[in-house]
Amino acid sequence: MFEHIERLREELEKAAAQSQDELEKFRMRFISRKSVIGDLFGEFKNVPNEQKKEFGAALNNLKNLAETKFQELVNDLKSREQSSDAASIDMFLPPVKQTGTIHPLNKVKNRIIQIFERQGFNVEEGPEIEDDFHNFTALNFPENHPAREMQDTYFISKDPDVLLRTHTSNVQIRLLEKQQPPVRAIMPGRVYRNEAISARAHCFFHQVEGLYVDRNVSFKDLKQTLYHFARELFGKDTKIRLRPSFFPFTEPSAEIDISCFICKGKGCKICKHTGWVEIGGSGMVDPNVLESVNVDPKEYSGFAFGMGIERIAMLKYQIDDIRLFSENDLRFLQQFKGT
Ligand code: DAH
Repeated sequence: MFEHIERLREELEKAAAQSQDELEKFRMRFISRKSVIGDLFGEFKNVPNEQKKEFGAALNNLKNLAETKFQELVNDLKSREQSSDAASIDMFLPPVKQTGTIHPLNKVKNRIIQIFERQGFNVEEGPEIEDDFHNFTALNFPENHPAREMQDTYFISKDPDVLLRTHTSNVQIRLLEKQQPPVRAIMPGRVYRNEAISARAHCFFHQVEGLYVDRNVSFKDLKQTLYHFARELFGKDTKIRLRPSFFPFTEPSAEIDISCFICKGKGCKICKHTGWVEIGGSGMVDPNVLESVNVDPKEYSGFAFGMGIERIAMLKYQIDDIRLFSENDLRFLQQFKGT
């Protein structure tokens, strides 16, 4: 009997399993109820009483050994299978054909970021769900300004202090709150307005905000920055025109026009025969805005601008319906492959 146990112990220690089949064989022989160890437990009653204790202990040892060994074999086999999976990855296979394309809005956004990054602008982001202070008050909107009214702004709840930002200008405030000048950043993002959806307007769209605050920033810095940007994005012959306008957060304020790059200023349908197309607003940061974020307007000045990304993409690719950007129609999206 004891010899038999000893032989089984040796056999156990040598056992190996290269496959699930061999593992199963091991289990049948040593672990299952009908295993050799199970049989030995059956013999227990035939063992003379004075040997029962010793036999029982030896048998229990054998059983534990079998269980430990089985677990080892299971783990070994598993890790061997995994590493052979890894070895079977062919690093030289050509990539699966790319089926997706970059969305035209992302294309334009990435290009805008690239142009401004090269002029030393950082990219910043801010929340789309905003409060009144960051979307309006800190930006010098008077209490009864029409832009605050229900028809323009989406309020998230009955609380008039929780709203969907109506422009990316909120990020100017967020940024100046966390960082004292010099600040030079562009801030792309999605904005929301309660507008009837048509070919020209949507209830959500995208803007890119720009802000540069430092000592001695002047209007000519603004103009030069925008001029450089327009030439990079629309071509070397592009001219810009800053048309006097009004925004609560800038003084003076200006609308940004670029010369129509379709007809080269001669007049066409796109520019409504004026030779110019509008791409956004801009101006010198109003001293009240700087004060609202504890920046001293006597020491610092700045310029800001905001442009519509859809608007720029529509001009650049001559798209005549803003709804196309959010309809996920592959016939539309796939036209922007590789452009
Ligand atoms: N926030 C303005 C809008 O949504 C755009 C704008 C105009 C942003 C002038 C600016 C700016 O930073 O200086 O219509």
